[in-house]
Amino acid sequence: MKLTTLFTKATATSDGVQSRRSFLQQLGLGGLLASLAGFTYQSVRSLVPNVLYEPPQKFKIGSPAMLPEGVTFLEDKRLYVFKEAQTYHAISASCTHLGCTVKHTKLNQAKTVELNGEKKTINFEFHCPCHGSKYYADGTNYAGPAPRPLRCYKLEMSPDDGQLIVDMTNEVEQSYRLTV
Ligand code: FES
Repeated sequence: MKLTTLFTKATATSDGVQSRRSFLQQLGLGGLLASLAGFTYQSVRSLVPNVLYEPPQKFKIGSPAMLPEGVTFLEDKRLYVFKEAQTYHAISASCTHLGCTVKHTKLNQAKTVELNGEKKTINFEFHCPCHGSKYYADGTNYAGPAPRPLRCYKLEMSPDDGQLIVDMTNEVEQSYRLTV
C-alpha cells in the first residue's frame, strides 16, 4: 500500500473519532441544560402555592331599586334572589342531594302548605331535574332524595354605595328577610 493511502485512511479515522467525540460532548451538554431547565422550573413552581382560586362568596348584586319585583336568577352564582315589596331574601339553587341546579317552577294551581308552623299559599316551588327532589317556595325539601332544605344566605346593604350584598358564607334561617 502506498504511503499516501495509509495517511489518508489515518486522517479519516481520526476525523471520525473527532466528530463522534464532539457529538457526544454536545449530547452531554444538551442533557445537562435540559436537566438544569427542569430543576429551575421545579424551583420556581415550588414558590407558587397550589391554591384553587374560587370566585368570591360575598358579592354585590346592584341597587335594591334596580332588582325587579319577584324572583331574579343569578346563573353564575346559582342563586335565586327575591324581592317582595321592601323585603329581600336569597335562596341557593344548588340541590342539597348532589348539587344539581334546581328550577324555579310556577305551579299551575296555588297550594297551601305549612311553612315554619304557618299555613301559607305558594304559587311556585323548586324542582330538581336530576333525581326529582322538590322544595317548597321557602326551600323546604318535601319530596325526592334531598336530605335538607335549600340554603338561604344573608343579604346586607353596602355602606359605600347602597348596593345589595349577598354573603354566601353566612347561612341564615328560611324566615330571614332583609327589609330596606
Ligand atoms: S341532585 Fe337534586 S335530586 Fe339529586
